[in-house]
Amino acid sequence: MKNRHLLAAALGLAAAWTALADDNGIAFPSGYRTWFHHRTTVNMTGHQPEGNVGIQHVYANAAAVEGLRTGEFADGATFVVDRFHYQDAGNSSLSQGARKVVAVMVRNAALHPETGGWAFEAFKGGDPNQRVVKDGGKACFTCHAPYADNNYLFSKNDKP
Ligand code: HEC
Repeated sequence: MKNRHLLAAALGLAAAWTALADDNGIAFPSGYRTWFHHRTTVNMTGHQPEGNVGIQHVYANAAAVEGLRTGEFADGATFVVDRFHYQDAGNSSLSQGARKVVAVMVRNAALHPETGGWAFEAFKGGDPNQRVVKDGGKACFTCHAPYADNNYLFSKNDKP
């Protein structure tokens, strides 16, 4: 009986380790909608890459807000892009449609030197079980890499 429990525990650990190894070190950022809302942008039809067309809200956790202020990001600083489809709501108005993706950057300088000290992950449709990033964040980083002088971020400390 005892052995069976030990085996179950060992299997559980193995499963957890496999999940960790596969998750780029990023947990789904529960509660991000209560974080600091840094800005909203709209990528209109015609924007490249086409997949990024939509309304996107950028959120920063407390450590990320502090990092924007000081220029130094502590491990755990996190940004989220919450992207939605948009639709014509009539009367020259756009409304927010279905969620496309929740994209995340988490600071962990020692673990991710090849992607600027940031871990990248994206959750399709905002589903915690649908992870998109399979290459350790290399493809994500291609667009962020040119912004080395701003900690590889598009976000700046210029919003109230
Ligand atoms: C085609 C270029 C491109 C690629 C590829 C890209 N990003 Fe970005 N990313 C941007 C732009 C542009 C912004 C600024 C968006 C805004 O201002 O609304 C941004 C902003 C962000 C932010 C907010 C922090 C910041 O830099 O301001 C996060 C988080 C983010 N991206 C995550 C990701 C993830 C995760 C991936 C890969 C799944 C990814 N990005 C791939 C262009 C890109």
